[in-house]
Amino acid sequence: MEIIASAPGKVTLYGEHAVVYGEPAIVSSINKRIYVKCRPRRDNTITISALNLSVPGIILTIDKDGEIKIETDYGRVLSAVSYIKEAIRLTQNYLDIKGGADITVSSEMPVGAGLGTSAAVAVSTIAAYSYSHGYRIPAKEIARLSWETEKTIQGLASPMDSTIATYGGFIYLKYDGKDFDFEPIEDVNELPLVIGYTKRLYKTADMVSKVKNLIDKYPLLGKNVINLIGKIVEMAREALKRNDLTMIGELMNINHGLLETLGVSTKELNHIVYIMRSLGAYGSKLSGAGGGGVAIGVVPRERINEVITALKLIDATPIETSIGGSGLIIEERDG
Ligand code: PMV
Repeated sequence: MEIIASAPGKVTLYGEHAVVYGEPAIVSSINKRIYVKCRPRRDNTITISALNLSVPGIILTIDKDGEIKIETDYGRVLSAVSYIKEAIRLTQNYLDIKGGADITVSSEMPVGAGLGTSAAVAVSTIAAYSYSHGYRIPAKEIARLSWETEKTIQGLASPMDSTIATYGGFIYLKYDGKDFDFEPIEDVNELPLVIGYTKRLYKTADMVSKVKNLIDKYPLLGKNVINLIGKIVEMAREALKRNDLTMIGELMNINHGLLETLGVSTKELNHIVYIMRSLGAYGSKLSGAGGGGVAIGVVPRERINEVITALKLIDATPIETSIGGSGLIIEERDG
């Protein structure tokens, strides 16, 4: 049976990086998805087609001596494929099967940009592979296997991305380094959020290990910064429940300052963050692992169009979507 499984991308409203070290985080799904189609094969071969992952194409520079320099973003395609490969390996071990499959992955958002696409790829792959082989793994196990996939590939990973990709919505998540718990935050789907994207040169794993190196070198400073981010998350949770936009924004600004302290922002991300603020955002911050990728801002509704236009002018791509999209969706197709 052919299965199409899809899972949403996400933005981290507060708490990325610190969540890896036991602090809480608040994360929201977006209404852009990864789709994985899986058709079982009679042999044990796995084929993976990744022809539409929304990454830019090739930049060719021919210099004055006729030398050709090629820049591509295809590293991110290979990275997405490595998550698929690992997700299948772990699912096969879990189910104790070896069945082959033809897999096609596509994305409505750029992969490897800080939108949680790795987890969305892993969640959809695990669901599509297992269901197409006749095994209905419960959502909790899909989320766990997806987290395992991320940990194997990234070295360090929190369960944040795999949880939001599986369940969607708005989630407050707490992870103590071993176990985790999460609860939905209701009624925040109306948050006027703008997302800007700038080219990301580093993988999540690079950024997570950059932060780890900094904390290993300056344990006291690192621990305090991480703790402070945790405090911001607790305060933001209350501000979100009250829909206190001023405080929601100010806490984003403080969170961004601390992410900058951890060394994960870039000139381009700061540019987005400050453009948003100068156009009246309540607050703005980078979102996700950093090193390029995504920044978010809470912007008064009447200013949203202006912010989107400004982002285009600074070569940052606005990602026009709403937040709070559905979690994992599994569709069966006979044939
Ligand atoms: O950039 P993304 O979407 O892969 O987000 C990574 C979030 C981190 O907190 C930096 C890592 C993690 O595993 O939680």
